[in-house]
Amino acid sequence: MLSQIFVNIPAREQESYPISIDLGIFGNWPNWLKKHIQSRQLVILTDKKLLNPYIRQFKQQLLDAKINFIVISINGGESSKNQVTKEAIEMKMFRARIDRDALLLVIGGGVIGDLGGFVAATYMRGIKYIQVPTTLLAMVDSSVGGKTAINNEYGKNLIGAFWQPQAVAIDIKFLNTLPKQQLINGLIEVIKIFITCEKSSYDFVTNNFNKILAYDNEALLFIIQRAVSLKAEIVSQDEKEQNLRKYLNFGHTIGHALEKYYDFNILHGYAVALGIIVESKIAQIMGFLTQESYLSIVNLLQKLGIDCKDLHEIDAAKIIQYCLNDKKAKADKIYMIIIRQIGMVQNDKNSAVHEVPAKIIKRAFKQLF
Ligand code: GLY
Repeated sequence: MLSQIFVNIPAREQESYPISIDLGIFGNWPNWLKKHIQSRQLVILTDKKLLNPYIRQFKQQLLDAKINFIVISINGGESSKNQVTKEAIEMKMFRARIDRDALLLVIGGGVIGDLGGFVAATYMRGIKYIQVPTTLLAMVDSSVGGKTAINNEYGKNLIGAFWQPQAVAIDIKFLNTLPKQQLINGLIEVIKIFITCEKSSYDFVTNNFNKILAYDNEALLFIIQRAVSLKAEIVSQDEKEQNLRKYLNFGHTIGHALEKYYDFNILHGYAVALGIIVESKIAQIMGFLTQESYLSIVNLLQKLGIDCKDLHEIDAAKIIQYCLNDKKAKADKIYMIIIRQIGMVQNDKNSAVHEVPAKIIKRAFKQLF
């Protein structure tokens, strides 16, 4: 194993769990899993796209190791993240007589992870589960920290629970076959956490973006290790997002509004990238971030292929309206994470979020470049 990071939630000592990062965990899975399964039944929830070749190879290993399992495969797209699919999964588990001692192994991207985690949180009042994220976005963000959820007609992630996994196993080999657009989609969340918490890692991405975009294992390993360590540290201090965990929402207030503006025809990471640009501009207008740092962020995102030109065409009034409808808005006021400098959030009066008047958001859109 290349590295292991722990999430320690002080209030729930028994729920501390390891995040293992490796190249080729699949090669020796049954042994790794046996530690977690004990006498339990194993349910594998996965994306139909992964059935071949990964799951086929894995199934044979489980059969050889005499581990009992069932496989449930679903479509890994956002349209599966709902109550109907959740119930279909549960019914399959009931039909297979899966009991409350079972272990759910969730192998896939963010949708499968969030949905599978929520099934685990509620099946017979909660069963154990392990996250095996297969996209960069899921590795560095959604698989870590126990946020589980589904969407409904009122919005994304509105129904869910905090339910921490038993373990997270990150196998960087999955990234070899990840399309470039999906790599960038995850890289944006990596950059987000570095902008809020760690300048040296932000500089690493700035200096090594070519290697990262060329799927260089060493560079990928470094950024995944740092992003996961920072997130594990944040979640360990603030599991339920009372304050510190809100750092992870940097770029997301505007990013979520942009997702809605584009009717979700934009990848989450790409919307967050544009959100990072606008929210950095807001931090600059509010007198925190320097123009030089703002331009460094814009420059990096542009080098990754984020097209910022469209931001000029956007109707800022609509974005403000969507921000006000967001579940994080309170009493008709918009709150955001404001960065003080690259690697540091403005966190005064013990509040990670700050009210941002609509007129500053409008000004930010006007003054972008
Ligand atoms: N994706 C943000 C969080 O886990 O809190």
